[in-house]
Amino acid sequence: MTKEQNEAAGASPTLDDRCILASRCKAAGDPARCNAMCSAHAQMHSATGRHTLANVPQDYRLVTAVSSPARESQPKVYRNIDGYIETFDRQFDEGEAPIKSLYLVSATPGTGKTSTACAVLNEYIAHHYAGCVRRGLTPAKRPGYFLDVTAWQADYNEFNRPRVPDEIAEPAAKRYYTAMQHAKEAEFAVMDDIGVRDYSDQFRADLHAVINHRVVNRKPSVYTSNEPIARLPEIFGEDRLADRISDLCVELAFEGESKRGKSRK
Ligand SMILES: Nc1ncnc2c1ncn2[C@@H]1O[C@H](COP(=O)(O)OP(=O)(O)O)[C@@H](O)[C@H]1O
Ligand SMILES: [Mg+2]
Repeated sequence: MTKEQNEAAGASPTLDDRCILASRCKAAGDPARCNAMCSAHAQMHSATGRHTLANVPQDYRLVTAVSSPARESQPKVYRNIDGYIETFDRQFDEGEAPIKSLYLVSATPGTGKTSTACAVLNEYIAHHYAGCVRRGLTPAKRPGYFLDVTAWQADYNEFNRPRVPDEIAEPAAKRYYTAMQHAKEAEFAVMDDIGVRDYSDQFRADLHAVINHRVVNRKPSVYTSNEPIARLPEIFGEDRLADRISDLCVELAFEGESKRGKSRK
């Protein structure tokens, strides 16, 4: 039975429209295999699945390089993104050059930076899983992680205010340090929205610790920002963090006006 016949017959729909492995999967859309029994789907999307643990924001959960809303309006960027994704095989070859980092920038918000960062993250997780399975390797428990730097900073501020009650401070501190650890350890990470002016010295030191750890261990990251790398030293009031960010990193500028609200699903 085809996917369409299957659905016309009232059977439960296949999972290919809610699985980041779909474009790499021979069984995608096959009612006999692409269903709730699929273990690869569970490895991605169950409560402890690799994609679930990556913390991708709900709005961009299933975006891929092909389905990304920004693809059409940012053709130059997406030529680079397509080439970049082809370097993901290097993760399986010790002798290869390391996978680079990306810095996605536009002065205007709503040009598709976060969507694109999530698309690249989803591609990495799918590529990592499929590549490990093909080689008989065990995929990492959390191959990728999305760090919303603004939300992370808000957690920091929440437990560093004077006289904040323990029952508020403790969960915020726990969220903060857990996110910090995941962002350090994941093979691939997104750091969304960096380069805001109001980082305290301590928060900036923690951000530096995460980025430094990743750079030293050759773990690629995708940064998004409203500020070009060249302006970061001035914004941070120091050079070290910007130096780390620019290490083995390709800066891609997003053009045009804000598309926010145009294709929200
Ligand atoms: N080029 C585009 N065409 C259509 N919609 C877009 C485009 N870029 C972004 N969007 C939509 O605009 C909203 C904001 O996109 P987002 O990726 O968060 O932008 P940014 O991170 O650059 O601020 C999202 O709902 C996204 O789907
Ligand atoms: Mg954004």
